[in-house]
Amino acid sequence: MNDTPALVEIRNLYKRYAPAAPYAVEDVSFDIHAGELFSLLGPNGAGKTTTISIISTLLPPTSGTVRVGGYDVQRDPMAVRRIIGVAPQELALYDDLTARENLRFWGEMRGLHSAELRHEIAEKLALMELTDRAKDRVSTFSGGMKRRLNLAVGLLGNPQLLMLDEPTVAIDPQSRRYLLDWVKKLREQGVTILYTTHYMEEAQELSDRIGIIDHGKLIALGTLDELIQLVGQHEILRLQLVQETGAAELATALQSVAGVIGTSAADGEVLVNVITAEATLAAVIGVATGLGLSVRTIEIREPNLEAVFLHLTGRALRD
Ligand SMILES: Nc1ncnc2c1ncn2[C@@H]1O[C@H](COP(=O)(O)OP(=O)(O)OP(=O)(O)O)[C@@H](O)[C@H]1O
Ligand SMILES: [Mg+2]
Repeated sequence: MNDTPALVEIRNLYKRYAPAAPYAVEDVSFDIHAGELFSLLGPNGAGKTTTISIISTLLPPTSGTVRVGGYDVQRDPMAVRRIIGVAPQELALYDDLTARENLRFWGEMRGLHSAELRHEIAEKLALMELTDRAKDRVSTFSGGMKRRLNLAVGLLGNPQLLMLDEPTVAIDPQSRRYLLDWVKKLREQGVTILYTTHYMEEAQELSDRIGIIDHGKLIALGTLDELIQLVGQHEILRLQLVQETGAAELATALQSVAGVIGTSAADGEVLVNVITAEATLAAVIGVATGLGLSVRTIEIREPNLEAVFLHLTGRALRD
């Protein structure tokens, strides 16, 4: 991924909303590579929307530079706008207009021409499964349908960079699942995506790389695996044996298995600290079998981003 050119380059970005105000974004630098799904994960007030607004050319930075496709957001805002699409956190929809009218309005704002726009509107409505509601006013839509329409607006013009600001907040689980799957599909089609969320499960499921942002600062950046390694935490296999004895013997034998970091045994149960469960599971069971022991249950305890956030800030992400 690092071989591909950066579509977005953010360098020493600072933003404050008033001269004496604290920084909403403070010395943030990162790249988003072409084709990548990059998530900004952080709690309320972390600076996610502020960052997106600056990349979108809607808000000037206090200092620092942001380039999209090589264009500076302050010097060439029009060039940047041709590359990007945004589905904002605050829905940018007119309740009194129909779904189709909303898409037409925003498409014209983006400078799409009529024949092209008609085709795109039909395509985006179908993509978001809203074709049969095209002529209904947005005021009659559910929260999930509004979110989908908001995304359809972001997709008009098939932007190279799509920014989705907390697209799953306040929607039902079914719409949420639909959106997440759809985001993955877009990524597979090669769209570069900047996704913000305060749900670690979403960042974990979707992202090529994740930036963790807190109080305006980017406090960690990397792939899920890289971030989890910051905690020094690995996966833990918890084995229960059918036999009442043998746990200690197994724990000792497992210490020489590649990928095993440490083991312990207590009450007929063996805990195995491993680099990855996937790479060691078969070998672990093989060793047990070799000793004449049968494994009754295995539980894999996954490390997660919550642990990373806690490690870095001393607070839970869900506070
Ligand atoms: N228009 C504004 N005027 C003044 N302060 C603002 C404005 N917008 C945001 N802020 C402040 O900037 C900081 C970052 O806010 P921002 O909206 O970027 O956070 P966020 O990560 O998007 O949060 P959320 O998850 O709640 O959407 C917060 O302290 C917020 O109060
Ligand atoms: Mg926000």
